[in-house]
Amino acid sequence: MSKSVIGELLETNQRLALDRKPNSQVSAQGLLKWKKATFGIFIHWGLSAHKDLSGGYQGVQYDTLAEWVPFAAQIPMSEYKQLAQSFNPSEFDAQRVAQLAHDTGMRYMVFTAKHHDGFAMYHSKAHPFNITTATPFARDPVRELSEACQEQGIGFGLYYSHVIDWESQDACTKSYNSWDYDISQGNYQSYWKNKSLAQMEELASSYGELTSMWFDMGGFDLQTESEHVAKTNELIQRLRHHQPNMVINSRITSPEREHLIDWDIVTGHDNYMEPTKIKPWFWEGIATTNDSWGFNRYDQNPKRARDVINQLCTVVSRGGNFLLNIGLDHLGRVPQEIEQLLAGVGDWMQAHGNAIHECYANPFNGGFDWGCVTHNPETRTLYFILPRLPEHQLISLKGLNNAVCSARFMDDNTGRVGVLQQKVSDTTTHTQLTIQAPEQAFSMPQVIEVCYDGELSINNEVHQDRLYQVYLDGQNCYEARQGDKHYQWQFHVTVPGRYDVSLRSTESMHHKQPRWVHHGKRGIVRCAGSEQAFSLTMNELTESNAQVPWKDVLSHLATIEIEQPGVYTLDLNGIELSIDESDKYGSDMVNFESLTIKPSAH
Ligand code: GLC
Repeated sequence: MSKSVIGELLETNQRLALDRKPNSQVSAQGLLKWKKATFGIFIHWGLSAHKDLSGGYQGVQYDTLAEWVPFAAQIPMSEYKQLAQSFNPSEFDAQRVAQLAHDTGMRYMVFTAKHHDGFAMYHSKAHPFNITTATPFARDPVRELSEACQEQGIGFGLYYSHVIDWESQDACTKSYNSWDYDISQGNYQSYWKNKSLAQMEELASSYGELTSMWFDMGGFDLQTESEHVAKTNELIQRLRHHQPNMVINSRITSPEREHLIDWDIVTGHDNYMEPTKIKPWFWEGIATTNDSWGFNRYDQNPKRARDVINQLCTVVSRGGNFLLNIGLDHLGRVPQEIEQLLAGVGDWMQAHGNAIHECYANPFNGGFDWGCVTHNPETRTLYFILPRLPEHQLISLKGLNNAVCSARFMDDNTGRVGVLQQKVSDTTTHTQLTIQAPEQAFSMPQVIEVCYDGELSINNEVHQDRLYQVYLDGQNCYEARQGDKHYQWQFHVTVPGRYDVSLRSTESMHHKQPRWVHHGKRGIVRCAGSEQAFSLTMNELTESNAQVPWKDVLSHLATIEIEQPGVYTLDLNGIELSIDESDKYGSDMVNFESLTIKPSAH
């Protein structure tokens, strides 16, 4: 490994405030290449896209992810195998798919080489239940896609369901094929050795350099901890031997065993953008383009380009890569509405790609209520991404100590940006960007490109509050004690008066049924000598178009009276927020984004 690459990676880590996981074994080149690709396409495709399946079976529509229909419908494996005989996706065109990814601004691909149904989407010599051997189609999509990606200059990676496999009677796991097989008769070792491991070795050794191997549901293997750890780390070693530059994701194992396994990157929750606190490790946000991963013929719910772009920007500003999924249909086509959606994202990327590619996390020690920030240290550019016109047409940055050389909208037609910088102390400069732009320009997110002079220097001691509004988030939390659910922030008030405290959380509404799990949670706000109990209610939903499975929820917590200018402490007690480094926030935790303290509307 060359010295400069290690140097670059270390430097990158420092700039990103990200750590390489101590037991990660991917080469520095591989990790950096994956990180720099930043935006990728996930492709779910398999036998479950068959025209007699894809969301339903034998006249019954299943309210589950399309690739889980064989499980929900408990289709006997003998019957499922027969379906393979009429699976002929003759319109599949790998070059077209790779071109589409490229034109959308995506720089790597992850394709389902085998999903939970056990059907391999490549020519496997280890097992005959594969698209080349078992269908009239008889081609090898993995080969075709790997070649097409190479032509387009984009990275190629593979999803492989290593644990769950409904075809194999020996795959004794959680969510196994209980309708055909008796779990007590299964021999997991045999499945593991003869199918799973054998196929993964085939994949790692036959399709050139892979960007990533993407695992899923690794915690479902029903093995003891020591068996699981030995087996999984041995798998990683074997794969590493063929692919030293390939990143391996955390879903190879379960959250409880993550620290024992040598994976490289964290996989976010499905359709969830992670809280404000930037993950300490390299991570990837994943999202659907509608309500399913695999193609579902009943799904008429494509997201809007604007929502996808906001997700992309949010993830990148938090240090992640973004992997956006599409499902191919029974003929191997990209559904028309998804192609249109990607064209919208591609148009935006054409003008704003520099705000995404090779960009790293928001370098400020806090989030902003007007949008998010990405950073390219190489070109000394900060990108301010604005989903809407900022209030008062103003962005105020405290503690950016570099001289701003230029600030302009990436799309020149949007409007104009003025810059005012003022040194407020020896160590701190304040910068104000004033914006002249019409509201209509923000039908799509707009980006201000700010070039600075010298090495980036930010005084992160100061909070990014502005006007009389205080914006507190996970990164400037003064004290957090998870055990007794206690959090504390300090903030500065210059103008006395009545202030409303509200909490903003990002809620994953999952795939279909929107639900708000935190309703009714109770807590106490203490500030300026007063103590107020609250019960969480959803006061406002933003970015809600009933199509996006994650939404911003605003909950009013309290109104506080501040009599004197000064520094105050706000104490929040009683509810658990996901602001620490853990990603184990389940439905019990409020997926916290920020607290705002604004002049009272009441
Ligand atoms: C879930 C589903 C799976 C899908 C994956 C994508 O784990 O089980 O079907 O492939 O999410 O993240």
